[in-house]
Amino acid sequence: MHRRFIVGNWKMHKTISQAESLVTDILQIYQPQASVELAIAPPFLSLPAVARLLASTSIKLAAQNTCASDEGAFTGEISPPMLRDVGCHYVIIGHSERRHIFGETDQDINKKVHAAFHHDLLPILCVGERLEERQSNKTQAVIQQQLQTGLDGIESKNFEKITIAYEPVWAIGTGQAATVDQATEVHRHIRSFLDTQWSVKSDQTRIIYGGSVTPENAKSLFQSPQINGALVGKACLNSESFVKIAELATSS
Ligand code: 13P
Repeated sequence: MHRRFIVGNWKMHKTISQAESLVTDILQIYQPQASVELAIAPPFLSLPAVARLLASTSIKLAAQNTCASDEGAFTGEISPPMLRDVGCHYVIIGHSERRHIFGETDQDINKKVHAAFHHDLLPILCVGERLEERQSNKTQAVIQQQLQTGLDGIESKNFEKITIAYEPVWAIGTGQAATVDQATEVHRHIRSFLDTQWSVKSDQTRIIYGGSVTPENAKSLFQSPQINGALVGKACLNSESFVKIAELATSS
């Protein structure tokens, strides 16, 4: 049985001082539980300030993206060694907004996953289908392709360290979360695909769900043994709703 994993993806929200006050509020009300791991992914600029606040806590720091290269002429990019240096433990890779707004390909994402492992950053690899793909019964094929290329060349031993986040594009920021049955079905498919393609015991791999997770729907999502946690967007920008989701992960 995995510890549940709850990750707050702040996306492009909060200045440094707003970040400090949100984290301070979270720390005031959150009672850490051994059965749940919490991580916070603020924008790059706030990473040092959030790292200082989290230093003596069990909450881990995550980045929202990384460059695949260590250093060089890559204007505007941030590298894995920089993220390690600031105290990041995890890095979100291949978020739907990176894929669909910034044009990241599965090949780009694969390079980032390798670069993260190379620098001891644990990847949270996001996959998910668009609405029209679901409607034309392509969900499994789309996700298989994202995994096949995104995880190409990853050693079996690393499947214990990677987290897969299933985030259906149609559920992100829409208020229309996947049902527990829809998410469970895809998580199960991801596990069997990992088992057959990489000969890993995929019950070692954490698979979390993202897309309009709220304190209202988290309990039912966490009732599925296939759902090992949540990647939370909007609801993590408020200390009470984020902590509530973490508490539901403990108790469900
Ligand atoms: P929302 O929770 O706002 O739908 O965002 C989900 C997400 O994209 C987390 O990475």
